[in-house]
Amino acid sequence: MRLRGREAGSENPGEILHGALGSAGYRVYFRHVNHETRVPTAEEKRELYAQAGLRFGGLVAGEPDRIARMAGIVAVLHGLMPHFYWTGFYRVSGGSLVIGPYQGTPGCARIGWGRGVCGTAWATGETQLVADVHEFPGHIACDARSASEVVVPLRDAQGRVVAVLDVDGLVTGAFDEVDRAQLEGILANWGEV
Ligand code: SME
Repeated sequence: MRLRGREAGSENPGEILHGALGSAGYRVYFRHVNHETRVPTAEEKRELYAQAGLRFGGLVAGEPDRIARMAGIVAVLHGLMPHFYWTGFYRVSGGSLVIGPYQGTPGCARIGWGRGVCGTAWATGETQLVADVHEFPGHIACDARSASEVVVPLRDAQGRVVAVLDVDGLVTGAFDEVDRAQLEGILANWGEV
C-alpha cells in the first residue's frame, strides 16, 4: 500500500510512505524520506518493534560478525521507527567508544569512557534514558537537533560491555520504557550470537 502525505498522517503532503496494517490493526510505515517529530504511541511502538523483530530473524540470526549484526539492527530500526532520528552503535575499541554502523547525520568518531550519554552507558553498564539531552550534564551534541536520547549497552557472552546502541530523537521525551525494554531485548536476542 502506498499513501501520500496527509492521507498517511504525515505533515509533509508530498511525502510518500509505504504502509501496511500490522497484526494488531495499527498502520505501520516504512519511512524513506525524513524522520519526523511525531512520536508513536506506546501501542504503535510495540507494533513497530514486533515488525522489526520479524526482520532480524532473516537478517542477523546466526551471523558471526558482530559489525554485520550491528549494521542489520541499525538498518531495520532506523527504517521502521519514525521517532528515530539518529541510530547507531559505538564500539569499545582501544579504550574509547569508536563509531560503528549508523544511519543519520554524521556522528562523532570517538567518545571517551564516562563522557556524554554514550560514555555513561559504557561506564555504568546501564541503559541511559534521557528525555531532554540539554538537562544531561556533559551531553555530546554531534547534531544540535537531537533533543532526547536512549543508549543501551551491548554485552558479550562474558558480560563485558563491548558496544552501545545510541538512538537520538528530534523531540524531547521521544523515548520511554517501551523503547528501553524493546531495545534491551533486541540487543540481548540479536546483538551477540
Ligand atoms: N549524544 C551522544 C553522542 C553521540 S551522538 O548523539 C551521535 C552522547 O552524549 O553520548
